[in-house]
Amino acid sequence: MSELRLASEKRLRLFSGRGFPELAEEVAQELGVPITPTSAYDFANGEIFVRFEESVRGCDAFVLQSHSAPVNKQIMEQLIMVDALKRASAKRITVVAPFYGYARQDKKHRGREPISARLMADLFKAAGADRLMVVDLHTSQIQGFFDGPVDHLFALPMLADYVGSKVDRSRLTIVSPDSGRVRVAERWSDLLGGCPIAFIHKTRDPRIPNESITGRVVGDVEGQTCVVIDDMIDTAGTITKAVDALFEAGAKEVIIAATHAVLSGPAIERLKNSRASEVVITNTLPISEDQKFDNLTVLSIAPLLGRAIREVFEDGSVTSLFDGHS
Ligand code: R5P
Repeated sequence: MSELRLASEKRLRLFSGRGFPELAEEVAQELGVPITPTSAYDFANGEIFVRFEESVRGCDAFVLQSHSAPVNKQIMEQLIMVDALKRASAKRITVVAPFYGYARQDKKHRGREPISARLMADLFKAAGADRLMVVDLHTSQIQGFFDGPVDHLFALPMLADYVGSKVDRSRLTIVSPDSGRVRVAERWSDLLGGCPIAFIHKTRDPRIPNESITGRVVGDVEGQTCVVIDDMIDTAGTITKAVDALFEAGAKEVIIAATHAVLSGPAIERLKNSRASEVVITNTLPISEDQKFDNLTVLSIAPLLGRAIREVFEDGSVTSLFDGHS
């Protein structure tokens, strides 16, 4: 009888791809579990090989890989890890992707385009993932692309707590860099005492990636401390143009706050040269030492990931982590 009980005990196992092992290590510390030893290497032609060095039979597997550059390689490695776990009889497999790649391609803007965010969900399902855990998806409805549970975690309460502790809330305006993120700006406002919101009327040419044309500020920001928020900073074109527009419209100070620091190409130079007094991001993606600059603040997402993984493993409530904040 006691042997039977032992056999049905759940075992939490954490696995890390090679994309951002430092974050996995932080999450492991939060959980108080080791990362399962894994061999991974590339063949000469770039194909990836993965093997777990311990038995994974019957475990509750959490496979952490943030989709950092080179994005396609990190995604492929995570898919291969899921496949290996499925074939080695893991009981349940959760894909933990703090930054979920291809999320921006969530609909067809024009004919003959892919919906790559859906393809990603299908690939993870086909590989054997039972559930996904992600942070601040580009749009919430991407959850519906995956046929299974998706734990959508929010960095917003952590970012808002930090920013709220540093500013005079009576002179604060939350700014969405485009009309699509106004709802998120409202959530920021709710958390920070109902401060006013504004948005930038932005137009974009869908034929030119990473190019935005910043239009005018909608809302009164004269003399205000503005917090311009976004889900991601990729080339930093969107957010730094928003900063310029806000100063032109009379803002006194501008702070940038975003969850995912993709930081491609000219991003660091643009952020360093912008007039923003502080850039607040999280470490859903790796930030190298040479990408860091004086007024950059990086908040760790590891405690949130650790708590969410614990809730899933113990059949608790991930929603409870965000009571009133989701
Ligand atoms: C756009 O819809 C996104 O929310 C971001 O605003 C955009 O992807 C940021 O890209 P970049 O930093 O290259 O302007």
